[in-house]
Amino acid sequence: MRRPRFPIGEKDIDDLVVREGERLLRWEELFSSPAPVEIEIGSGKGRFLLTEAARRPERNFLGIERRVSHLRVCAERAVRRGLRNLRLLRANAVEILWARIPPASVAAFHVYYPDPWWKARHKKRRIFTPDFIADLARALMTGGELRMATDVEEYFEQIVRLAGESGLLDAAQPTAEEFGTPDEPLTSYQAKYLRLGRPIYAALFRSNGTPSPPTPAPRERMRLLKERRRAERGAMAEG
Ligand SMILES: C[S@@+](CC[C@H](N)C(=O)[O-])C[C@H]1O[C@@H](n2cnc3c(N)ncnc32)[C@H](O)[C@@H]1O
Repeated sequence: MRRPRFPIGEKDIDDLVVREGERLLRWEELFSSPAPVEIEIGSGKGRFLLTEAARRPERNFLGIERRVSHLRVCAERAVRRGLRNLRLLRANAVEILWARIPPASVAAFHVYYPDPWWKARHKKRRIFTPDFIADLARALMTGGELRMATDVEEYFEQIVRLAGESGLLDAAQPTAEEFGTPDEPLTSYQAKYLRLGRPIYAALFRSNGTPSPPTPAPRERMRLLKERRRAERGAMAEG
């Protein structure tokens, strides 16, 4: 049965979308009831968030998505469904993680089908880097989870390697159904990939409580990366 449509006021959407800012987020200001917080990074149009927020009212969910059009689709659906435990933030998640998430305050992160950036020269744009993992681990409570899935085997192996090398996250064994099924896919991209018959690679990690090393600010990271590349090119040209 289709849900009846009703006009959604800007105010409804505004209440759901977290304001831009620089200070640390305060979960008790964002959510109407105290509950463990789960964050999805790159939440797209929100299939995962909308399902989980309805299924688990005892948790609070935050979606961080940088495309405003996607964020709006998710926000409108959340308002129509009357979800009170869901908030959205339009931003670059790398910057938010570094600057605005209180340490040891997040119960779980979800990163599903992160952009793979296929071309060799674009791979540096991938969201998973040693610094990103350190930032995720810093934000997680001890025992808090990182759940991820991708259809790109090589990217999956890179993420597993980076998590292992960090010493901050321990791999855990999820059950297959925890990462969606053809009847109940976790996210829109997963639905598409399952239809196309692509394999899905998924992993679950838990924070082991080791303190994360300090990480450079995201803009500084890009500068360091460019410098390193320039130095590498110089060394190749010389030798
Ligand atoms: C391939 S889509 C996957 C969407 C969704 N997770 C799914 O599985 O259906 C990747 C999403 O991540 C978002 N994204 C990529 N980099 C991001 C970043 N640094 N911060 C926030 N969102 C980001 C993109 O805008 C896009 O919506």
